[in-house]
Amino acid sequence: MDMGTSQAGCFLFIIALTWLCAAQPSSLFQDNSLEEDFREWLAFIHATSDSSASSMFEQFVQSTHTSENKAGSSDIVSDHVLGKLNKKLADAEKNKRLIMVSQDGSGDFKTITEGLLAVPSKNRIRTIIYIKAGIYSEKIEIPRKKPFITLLGDGESMTIITGNATAGDSVYQFRKVSYVRTYGSATVGVNSQYFIAKNIRFENTAPAPNPGDIGRQAVAFRISGDNAAIYNCSFYGYQDTLYDHAGRHYFKNCFIQGSIDFIFGYGRSLYMNSQLHSVANEFGSITAQKRNDTILSSGFSFVNCCITGSGNVYLGRAWGDRSRVVYSFTYMDNIILPQGWFNWGDPTRNKTVYYAQYKCSGPGASPDRRVPWARELTFEEVQPFLSISFINGKTWLQEL
Ligand SMILES: *[C@@H]1O[C@H](CO)[C@@H](O)[C@H](O)[C@H]1NC(C)=O
Ligand SMILES: *[C@@H]1O[C@H](CO)[C@@H](O)[C@H](O)[C@H]1NC(C)=O
Ligand SMILES: *[C@@H]1O[C@H](CO)[C@@H](O)[C@H](O)[C@H]1NC(C)=O
Ligand SMILES: *[C@@H]1O[C@H](CO)[C@@H](O)[C@H](O)[C@H]1NC(C)=O
Repeated sequence: MDMGTSQAGCFLFIIALTWLCAAQPSSLFQDNSLEEDFREWLAFIHATSDSSASSMFEQFVQSTHTSENKAGSSDIVSDHVLGKLNKKLADAEKNKRLIMVSQDGSGDFKTITEGLLAVPSKNRIRTIIYIKAGIYSEKIEIPRKKPFITLLGDGESMTIITGNATAGDSVYQFRKVSYVRTYGSATVGVNSQYFIAKNIRFENTAPAPNPGDIGRQAVAFRISGDNAAIYNCSFYGYQDTLYDHAGRHYFKNCFIQGSIDFIFGYGRSLYMNSQLHSVANEFGSITAQKRNDTILSSGFSFVNCCITGSGNVYLGRAWGDRSRVVYSFTYMDNIILPQGWFNWGDPTRNKTVYYAQYKCSGPGASPDRRVPWARELTFEEVQPFLSISFINGKTWLQEL
């Protein structure tokens, strides 16, 4: 998240105050504007979804009944749900190109940067950049004109892409000093469509910011391209680790570490079977979702995930005034602040955000002391958030 330099200090100060003053409401209420908002959302999902969520859901329910509210890996989105790829993607998958990157010289290139340069602009075929085990200190940005790229590693602990840029780093451009900003701090940034990553660790090793520090946001991975699928990857950072910036994304079997707003942006993303690990010293927040009026379709859905670590963290803060985050079947350790959610210091957001849980477990999951504007979803309400229809996955996901 970008905060201008002077704004940021003030912002942190206000946040600190609000944290100290946060009330502990105790009742749950239903609000009409939320209901309306939800209906709008359902209509949107139905208009844009590409498969029937309900049949999948029935299947899902059957399997959860037998496993104590814990969804198994294949319960929610099982194989037969995958559909026919759209033509553009299907064509690209017909031919594949392999580019091998290895630091010992046994591949085509020694750096990922060189491997990427070998992919032509307006690339039209699936291009797998296989990155052999090693620690790669490179700053990577995949341009919009290079779609269909796969970054394939040797394992989440074997192939590591690392960097340490922060938002406040200065750059000299056109004889002027400007700042890298949050967006530009990413160790790996992806702007292209149909990106896949597998078995890679993405890091930003910039030190954890202290309270009041300015310009210390340090992104490990930014995804701004539509239709991205990320499997068995890990993301390590502190403030702003994973910039789920824009587009529809699928994350599965991932590990995401951070302290403040460590999954943030206005992506529309489904996170399956992933671990969210807080390293907050005192306070922090797992998400800062940025949905607003102009990007109504965005939101984060966490299904069958697990929240661990340290600190007192919010499940989310309302970066966007219609911020939307849902956790289902997720284990929450005792690091979640009882109120659960924060309105970013703007009380009008109480009525416009969409923050919910469904059948979560663990000591941090109790709805009893959540803010009154948090929701415990019903069986029907949670449906759109459990299936790959949430991200229109049927026409572009190739693996679940
Ligand atoms: C940041 O990364 C650069 C490039 O790898 C390295 O030279 C530098 O020592 C690192 N700085 C810190 C504080 O780790
Ligand atoms: C991906 O992660 C899952 C769960 O951690 C594991 O069972 C699976 O073997 C991993 N796959 C690969 C290709 O590493
Ligand atoms: C909503 O957020 C997007 C992305 O940050 C921004 O471009 C747009 O202006 C925002 N719209 C409103 C109404 O604030
Ligand atoms: C918004 O929610 C916070 C936290 O529950 C509460 O303290 C505040 O009074 C609420 N404000 C409004 C206007 O609803």
